[in-house]
Amino acid sequence: SAGELNLDKDAFLATCWQREPLLIRSALKSFTSPLPADELAGLALEEDIESRIIEYREGDWQLHHGPFRGEDFQRDNPWTLLVQAVDHYIPEVARLRQLVDFLPSWRVDDVMVSYAVDGGSVGPHYDNYDVFLLQGEGRRRWRLGQACDSRSPLLPHDTLRILRDFESSREYLLEPGDILYVPPGIAHWGIAEGECTTFSIGFRAPRINDMVSRWADDLLEKLDPELFFRDPGIGAASRAGEISPQDMERVRAQLRAAMDLATDSRWFGAMVTEPRYEFDTDDDDLAEARALLAAGPGYIELSPAARVAWQQEPEGITVFANGQARLFSSTVLDTLATLCEDWRLDGERLACALAQADTARLLDYLLESGGIYVE
Ligand code: SIN
Ligand code: CO
Repeated sequence: SAGELNLDKDAFLATCWQREPLLIRSALKSFTSPLPADELAGLALEEDIESRIIEYREGDWQLHHGPFRGEDFQRDNPWTLLVQAVDHYIPEVARLRQLVDFLPSWRVDDVMVSYAVDGGSVGPHYDNYDVFLLQGEGRRRWRLGQACDSRSPLLPHDTLRILRDFESSREYLLEPGDILYVPPGIAHWGIAEGECTTFSIGFRAPRINDMVSRWADDLLEKLDPELFFRDPGIGAASRAGEISPQDMERVRAQLRAAMDLATDSRWFGAMVTEPRYEFDTDDDDLAEARALLAAGPGYIELSPAARVAWQQEPEGITVFANGQARLFSSTVLDTLATLCEDWRLDGERLACALAQADTARLLDYLLESGGIYVE
C-alpha cells in the first residue's frame, strides 16, 4: 500500500471533510513520487487516455486536448499537463486511493496527475467535489480563496471555468509528500515553483437531479399503471372550479403511498459504481479468464478501473460492479470484504472461495462485470 496518512481521521471527518480545507504536512512517512513526469508525459501521448494542457498566454487561458505529441511539450508560456484517471493505468498511483480508505470507496472518482513547468497553473477555480492534492515532485504554491457556487462570476471562456475574482485568504508552499485537502466549492489556485507534479485524489458525488431521475425510473417500473387517484368520502364541492386543500392532501398521501413501494435501493449502488469510461468485454478474453479461474489461478485482483461496492440487505448482499447489481447470499461477505479491503485474493483464501458455490459465483460475476482480473 501507499502507507498510512499522518492524519487524525476522526478529527478530520468531524471538522474538515466537506467543510474546511486542511494542510497535512509530510502526510506520508517516507514518500517517493509514484510516477515520474516523463512517464506521465508518455501517458498523454496515448489515444485512449484523457489528457489536457492548460497554458497561460498574454492574459488568456488556453485549453488543449490530448492525445499529444512530443512537440506539444515545448511551449514558451507557462503550462500544465493534466492526465485523468492515471490510477487506471499505473498500479502505484492506484494505491494512492488506499490513503483515503477511511472514506467510502464509492465516493472516490479517480487520481488525476498534473505536471507543470515553472509558473504553470490551471488558474483560480473551484470544483464541485472534494480533492486531496498530494505534492509529488517539486514545489507548488497553493492559495485558498472564497467559498463559491454556480453564481460565482467566471472569466468568459467556452470550456474553462476560471474565477473572475479570487480573494486569497491562505497560502501554502507544498513540498513532496505534503497534502492539501480542499472541500467542494472552495476557490483554490496552485502555481508551480519550478517544475512539479501533483496527484489529485478526486471524489465524486451523484447529482441530486440524477438521483431523483434514477429513483423515479425505478419506481415507475414497479408501479401499476392501472392505479388511479381516488377520493372516496369526499365532501360536496362548494366553490366551482376549485382544487381544494383536501384534494391536495389526498394527492400527497397517495403519492407517498406510491413512493413507499420503492423500497429497493439498488438503483443507487448501480448509479455510483458506474465506470468512468465505457468498456467492452472481449468474449475470448472472458472465456480465457474463466478457464484460468476454473483451473485455479495464482491470484485475483480488483481491476484498477473497476468500481465495486456492496450493500447488506435482509435478503442477502447486493454486489455492485461497474453499474451492475446482483444479489448473493450472506456467505460471500468474508470473501467480498477481503477483496474490497486488500484488492487481492490468493493462496488458501482464494482456493476456499473457489471451492464454495456461492463465492465461486461471486467471483464469476465480478470477472464478467470487469470488477476483477485473474493472473
Ligand atoms: C493541478 O494539479 O494543477 C490542479 C488540480 C486542482 O486544482 O484541482
Ligand atoms: Co481544483
